Amino acid sequence: MKVLAIESTCDETAAAVVENCGEGVKILNSVVASSVLMHQKYGGIVPEVAAREQIKSIIPVITESVGEDKDSIQGVAVSFGPGLMGSLLVGVESAKALSWAWKKPLYSVNHMAAHVFANWIVEDKNTEVPMFPAVGLVVSGGHTDLVLMKNTKEWEWVGGTRDDAVGEAFDKAARLLGLPYPGGPEISKAVERVTVQMKERFGSKFKLPRPLFNEDSLDMSFSGLKAAISKIVTTLGSVDEKTRDVLAWEFSEAVIEILIKKTMLAVERYKPKSVLMAGGVAANKQLRENLKMAVEGVGEVKFFCPELRYCGDNAAMVGAAAIIAPREVKPVNLKPDPSVTTV
Ligand SMILES: Nc1ncnc2c1ncn2[C@@H]1O[C@H](COP(=O)(O)OP(=O)(O)OP(=O)(O)O)[C@@H](O)[C@H]1O
Ligand SMILES: [Mg+2]
Repeated sequence: MKVLAIESTCDETAAAVVENCGEGVKILNSVVASSVLMHQKYGGIVPEVAAREQIKSIIPVITESVGEDKDSIQGVAVSFGPGLMGSLLVGVESAKALSWAWKKPLYSVNHMAAHVFANWIVEDKNTEVPMFPAVGLVVSGGHTDLVLMKNTKEWEWVGGTRDDAVGEAFDKAARLLGLPYPGGPEISKAVERVTVQMKERFGSKFKLPRPLFNEDSLDMSFSGLKAAISKIVTTLGSVDEKTRDVLAWEFSEAVIEILIKKTMLAVERYKPKSVLMAGGVAANKQLRENLKMAVEGVGEVKFFCPELRYCGDNAAMVGAAAIIAPREVKPVNLKPDPSVTTV
């Protein structure tokens, strides 16, 4: 089945054409327009600006994705939430209109599930896809969840953050350190600048807490880390570049240690065949490498993580979700839902 997928939950306007391939989904094209740079001067996303940019980009992005291929498209998929209402409306109404005009089925996709289904994107029919049961670690700008996937549609929420999402924590910590928005990639760059000598010299001076680390639960908490950074910055008065980078490194270490500890606790409890990571924060190099090592250290468990370009918001993952776990809906019944949960 060939599907046109649309994504407009936040500040990315995206469209993709995908089709099934072996046990996974092949991407025929994936177009993404982002308004992230427009939000930089505000240090975060401004919903009204994001919605206006969605309106400007949606038709050019869909037109580029569909190209001359319109007649071969067999269905239209769209993320209906969670996200920002103004942004969601643009993608959902466009998808409904196309489904109606082309007389093709419409598939509703939960944006968080779509992040997870990015792990079913394959190069060719021989590429391995995740096996069930699977533990999913969803780490994005607005969510931090651990889910137990029994199959493509039966999921159980088993843990996650009690307060800030991990991407939000990266963004807030970066802001406190004077680094631009979005903070995740900036903190990663700062981590790369930290030398072994800097770690030895300053590391212990700025040790941050690891909230809930030793508790036998899959709960996580990241807001205390942000508060700890704020306290250090206030005490120091001003932060030079080296201190900033060391603090960014220590923050990143703390977050990654918590995520790995809790994911491995879920692995111990649920004995999955695969562990899947997904969401914008899954682009973090240290997290990808360290979690892969930890998971693959446990017997037969396989680790999956999408290619970097499919970690942040994109429509290819929406198409993957519609093909692997289709949920057909009548256009008249589909409404955006800004606060739908991951499971
Ligand atoms: N290398 C990285 N390290 C850590 N965080 C990163 C990295 N790259 C991106 N991020 C973070 O990923 C987040 C964006 O991810 P994503 O696009 O999945 O979130 P969102 O769509 O805004 O939220 P949600 O998917 O929860 O609705 C931002 O918080 C950003 O800082
Ligand atoms: Mg997202």
